[in-house]
Amino acid sequence: MATRSTPNKTASSTSGVKTGTQKDAAAGRSTARAAVRSRPPKTGKPAPAEAKPARTPRSMLDSVSQAIEASALGKAGAAASAIARSRRASALGRRVRNKHVVVTGASSGIGQDCALKLAAAGATVILAARTPQKLQDTVDRIRADGGKAHAYACDLSEMADCERFVAAVLAEHRHVDILINNAGRSIRRSVRSSFDRFHDYERTMQLNYFGALKLIFGFAPAMLERQNGHIINISSIGVLASPPRFSAYVASKAALDAFSLCAASEFADANVRFTTINMPLVRTPMIAPTKLYDAFPALTPDEAAELVMTAVIDKPKRVATGLGRAGAVAQAMAPGISEFVLNQAFRLFPESAAARGANGPGQADESETLPTDPVDLARKLFAQVFGGVYW
Ligand SMILES: NC(=O)c1ccc[n+]([C@@H]2O[C@H](COP(=O)([O-])OP(=O)(O)OC[C@H]3O[C@@H](n4cnc5c(N)ncnc54)[C@H](OP(=O)(O)O)[C@@H]3O)[C@@H](O)[C@H]2O)c1
Repeated sequence: MATRSTPNKTASSTSGVKTGTQKDAAAGRSTARAAVRSRPPKTGKPAPAEAKPARTPRSMLDSVSQAIEASALGKAGAAASAIARSRRASALGRRVRNKHVVVTGASSGIGQDCALKLAAAGATVILAARTPQKLQDTVDRIRADGGKAHAYACDLSEMADCERFVAAVLAEHRHVDILINNAGRSIRRSVRSSFDRFHDYERTMQLNYFGALKLIFGFAPAMLERQNGHIINISSIGVLASPPRFSAYVASKAALDAFSLCAASEFADANVRFTTINMPLVRTPMIAPTKLYDAFPALTPDEAAELVMTAVIDKPKRVATGLGRAGAVAQAMAPGISEFVLNQAFRLFPESAAARGANGPGQADESETLPTDPVDLARKLFAQVFGGVYW
């Protein structure tokens, strides 16, 4: 049931705390002074050679990057990126200040990072997820920084709960300017292992498609009436790359992508836009149970939330990584080759422990550890080459 959470304010301040860099610099200066004072008096005898610290590839790389940072070019680059960051922050502020932004799945991972960024930029964020305590923590963090947040505990895979959520938000906030459909459910299981698991397909559709659709149907009428609105769907790179073992998940995400493309052409002249984000692999609690992914390159939640902020600022039709776009082009131009590569990936990567029905203690890690033999190494290389895609 959709229930309004009543958050408590918790204050935490980081101002006045010395940063690590400042402390290190201060420590470095005092060590240097001590070294000067303790230099031994000259005796005429040659001093014993001091052991030089060993030069590792890492330390050499650090020296090179320090030299670049200290050069005129490095300083100009840092100044340019500081300007770009501040321009982006202003653009985000202009887009969302005092706007009502709904973020679903805002108590963890990508959604939580989005909520924090949007609130910091001046939005009134309206958060939804199932667990009241996790929502409360997010609201507390936002309010502690002076942001505006309202939380509603609801299960968006339940259509009645979606309706109650929409009704409560419209009653309290009148309209929504930006809807970010982020709450999602992922399942990694081959089709062969799913013949007796029709419910996997129903559950992914229920949250990833029907739940999101219910919210669009709830908030779009006011958007259309006000001739202003933006709907952002957090989809997956899987919709572009069609990885094996994700048929339930990818099909549910693809359904929302397809709906949004059709609806966008109906709403365009009413200034109500859709953006689909084909998110690559992101290191969040969602992927934590799949130990195999520990060895895969993945975005941080902060980097993923920045992709969402790009969508908020620019309102593009699609946000996707180069690899995602390459996957879509490969599917369209060379479907046979694409299928061959994906089939190799299917053979290389193991079924997860849960999908094999091996959920006992210790069994989850059985075949999902770091490379130990040539096949494992091949898996890891494949994952590195196709970084961002999940297998
Ligand atoms: N992580 C990735 O690699 C990746 C890649 C591509 C796309 N995505 C997509 O990105 C989105 C966010 O994923 P994430 O990685 O940030 O996951 P996450 O850290 O697990 O967060 C999921 C959020 O959704 C909420 N949620 C789950 N089921 C819900 C339900 N039935 N009703 C309401 N809220 C629900 C969770 O809170 P409660 O559990 O308290 O409800 C949580 O706040 C998802 O749509 C996912 O498919 C993720």
